[in-house]
Amino acid sequence: MNRISTIKPVAFIALLALASVSPLSLAAGSGNAEAGKALAQPCQACHGADGNSTAPIYPRLAGQYPDYLARALQEYRDGERVNPIMAVYVEKLSDQDIRDLAAYFSAMPGRLSDLHGQMDAK
Ligand code: HEC
Repeated sequence: MNRISTIKPVAFIALLALASVSPLSLAAGSGNAEAGKALAQPCQACHGADGNSTAPIYPRLAGQYPDYLARALQEYRDGERVNPIMAVYVEKLSDQDIRDLAAYFSAMPGRLSDLHGQMDAK
């Protein structure tokens, strides 16, 4: 007998509801890139006007996954990721600001690349 079929429908619906509650409330889907653009002005000095910094010490943000960006910003703000430079720029950001910034930078054309095709280059 198939065990799944023995789960009562009500319990199944409750399980579905539990599964849809994200442990990370900052899931970046609801960010507003237009609002993020206004917030991004101070970031551009280091991360580049188009989110593609040219200096290796400043990570490129353009085209990065929005939930990665949101998570990083949240962690800087909450002290889970410690960097004295970034701490200054995120301390006053709300959760919505973070979602907006993540939406903005992730929507920009990125120059992120992986090592595909480069590993064999001598
Ligand atoms: C004065 C320079 C400077 C400014 C301004 C700045 N950052 Fe950064 N940012 C850095 C540096 C340096 C790092 C790398 C820190 C580390 O090693 O954790 C970084 C890291 C990050 C990361 C993590 C990237 C990754 O790949 O893990 C994000 C996201 C980020 N910054 C977003 C922002 C946003 C959004 C702003 C504006 C609100 C901003 N930064 C302003 C210098 C800056």
